[in-house]
Amino acid sequence: MKVNFTETVLRDANQSLIATRMPISVFEPILETMDKAGYYSVECWGGATFDSCLRYLNEDPWERLRRIKAKMPNTKLQMLLRGQNLLGYKHYPDDVVRKFVQHSISNGIDIVRIFDALNDIRNIEVAVDETLKCGAHASAAISYTTSPVHTLDKFAQLCKDMQSMGVQSICIKDMAGVMSPKEAYDLVSAIKDKVDLPLVLHTHCTTGLAFMTYLKGIEAGADVIDTATSVFSGGTSQPATETLYYALDQLGYETDLKHDVLKQVNDFFKPYFAECLESGLLDPTVMGTATEALDYKIPGGMLSNLISQLKAQNAIDRLPEVLEETPRVRKDMGYPPLVTPLSQMVGVQAATNVLLGERYKSIGKEIKAYVKGEYGRAPGEIDDDLKKKILGSEKAIECRPADLLKPEFEKTKAMLGSKADNDEDVLSYIAFPQVAEKFFADREKRRENIVRYSIEPIE
Ligand code: CO
Repeated sequence: MKVNFTETVLRDANQSLIATRMPISVFEPILETMDKAGYYSVECWGGATFDSCLRYLNEDPWERLRRIKAKMPNTKLQMLLRGQNLLGYKHYPDDVVRKFVQHSISNGIDIVRIFDALNDIRNIEVAVDETLKCGAHASAAISYTTSPVHTLDKFAQLCKDMQSMGVQSICIKDMAGVMSPKEAYDLVSAIKDKVDLPLVLHTHCTTGLAFMTYLKGIEAGADVIDTATSVFSGGTSQPATETLYYALDQLGYETDLKHDVLKQVNDFFKPYFAECLESGLLDPTVMGTATEALDYKIPGGMLSNLISQLKAQNAIDRLPEVLEETPRVRKDMGYPPLVTPLSQMVGVQAATNVLLGERYKSIGKEIKAYVKGEYGRAPGEIDDDLKKKILGSEKAIECRPADLLKPEFEKTKAMLGSKADNDEDVLSYIAFPQVAEKFFADREKRRENIVRYSIEPIE
């Protein structure tokens, strides 16, 4: 029996523990070593990394990807893509989705893990199709959650539908770290019964279940697990790579990992971890075990967002009420999984309901769009009163949301003109217009400085 490992330190661990603020200058020196570790893949791009590069790190995300690829030619590079939402928080037209996937792959991505927050399969079909057309590996992920409408049968059927789309692997993505060992065993078994594809398990240590969950999932036939180098593991991050390697190796599972390389990788990240603690970038509370998530089903990232949101409004004492309101809002919305962007939408609405002292007195425009069907199909029934309040006499849309969108890429490219160096810039702009615009302007300034500096010495 063999178990493969996907290392997440560059993406999910980075995102979950330090708000995706790790610049490439920190991790570039270890990439050549990581390339020798024997990982099945390294998750290094997508998710929040793209936004964070442009918004906070003054880094071109495409350049980051090319630099990682140059240092890791032997390892499969993996990205996380939010289906039709790409790396943003709304639906993009098909031409943009196809271009984005094409350029992700041509700049270095080998495996595109594609999911939809609502598990509406129509929202991943274009990204999957383009990934396959580009000759890359499409991995379809199901957003794991528990609710009265999320049954084993439904999940297994969803995976079967994904297999019919031609994906090469399936991932169970438990962004909240709420999947228990038993649930993992039952779900992996149910999926393996129906689908003959490699199965990846993805969870977080938030509630303390993760190591047990992986072990039971592996016993049921899971093929790949997502782990983070030990110093960046635990808490809201993934379980530790070395720990699982140690335990699974003893149990007789084969892995491709090189123990000495894993140690080098971990030693490398230790001083940076200490630095993050010292600077306050890493809040030590995210390293703990928070079992509240088992009651409230709130992902680690969402919990810390709620806390900082309430602190900013001087209302941290209302947290217990907000934590109770959150599952109620979720139920009203037909039990969407609490993954980006739905986790933010549900959290903000729950906080608003509590702070205003009246439920749905004010409704966020994203929630309105969701109820109108603009995100796709809700997993369960949306509460009638909420529907009436938002829709009035209007009807919700039933088609695939992106069917209503007009092509955008060529138009944007023409509009940007010389502001964009290439198609990648156009995609950065479409994904995050204001942020990209500022990034382009700053880049232009840096270029002028370089030119001035290079002229000065000729006196
Ligand atoms: Co995750």
